[in-house]
Amino acid sequence: MAYPIHRPRRLRRTAALRDMVRETTLAPSDFIYPLFVVEGRDVRRPIASMPGVFNLSLEHTVAEARRAHALGVKAVILFGIPDHKDAQGSQAYATEGIVQRAVRELKNALPDLLVIVDVCLCEYTDHGHCGLIDGGHVANDSTLPLLARMAVTCAQAGADIIAPSDMMDGRVAAIRSALDEVRLTDVPVMSYAAKYASAFYGPFREAAQSTPQFGDRRGYQMDPGNVREALKEVDLDLEEGADMLIVKPALSYLDIIRLVRDRVDVPVVAYNVSGEYAMVKAAAQNGWVDGDRMTLEILTSMKRAGSDLIITYHALEAAKLLGA
Ligand code: PBG
Repeated sequence: MAYPIHRPRRLRRTAALRDMVRETTLAPSDFIYPLFVVEGRDVRRPIASMPGVFNLSLEHTVAEARRAHALGVKAVILFGIPDHKDAQGSQAYATEGIVQRAVRELKNALPDLLVIVDVCLCEYTDHGHCGLIDGGHVANDSTLPLLARMAVTCAQAGADIIAPSDMMDGRVAAIRSALDEVRLTDVPVMSYAAKYASAFYGPFREAAQSTPQFGDRRGYQMDPGNVREALKEVDLDLEEGADMLIVKPALSYLDIIRLVRDRVDVPVVAYNVSGEYAMVKAAAQNGWVDGDRMTLEILTSMKRAGSDLIITYHALEAAKLLGA
């Protein structure tokens, strides 16, 4: 009788052995929790396509952030949804805008929680595009000063990190120099460097009421077929002064996460986007999959691909699962 010499199963036999040799682990501090802040009082409006996610008024935003923080989540990323939207997205850079107020309230209530702001115009414009419209197109250069103003007003309100998601060319440099100009030299920029034009953002647009009123975002977000273009965007953002880089979406772009991780020496962040979240929730609600296990497996795959951090709507429930 010949016995196999190599038996990988030896190290899989018990939970203790498996724990000992696990290469990739998750911790609550890996997660960044997105919050959708709306105006008004006592608003906690469910997002139909994202079970467990809500539009929250300020006091509920603070309460939700407090729950996450207590479970070991160290950072939130804010999306502001103003009552008043206009062509210039003026509430994006108003000192008393909803997102600036949310930053102040959060830093006041939870000084140790890191508050990141998603800088983009699409939640603030009536047309739903990420920049100004000129002749039916999204104008690049005239949008840059507005993004820079949004970054400055948010940083002045106390934001710890600025995360531009608009995909205008040159926006990292514009934001960096505007921050430096007002002596906010220590506020880091976490740029959405490789951001694809994706069907996986559908539920987010329900949450942020930011569906474009005409056309789509393919003129500024990247084509899903491209890899070299992602690397070019990454190089440009680093040259322009980005401190951390985001790859988005994550689940269908694990190859991009790995390539970026191997190319750069700054923290890489995966954005586990709304459509990825919605798919898991929908299948789990039907009883077709084990939602908890699937959630942790998906998050593990993003870390295994090379991300240091994950922006995820699962942050709070995953932190609970890890603590259990
Ligand atoms: C703003 C922004 C979007 C997302 C993050 N920032 C929407 C978009 O680009 O259309 C999507 C996040 C998600 O789907 O979870 N530009």
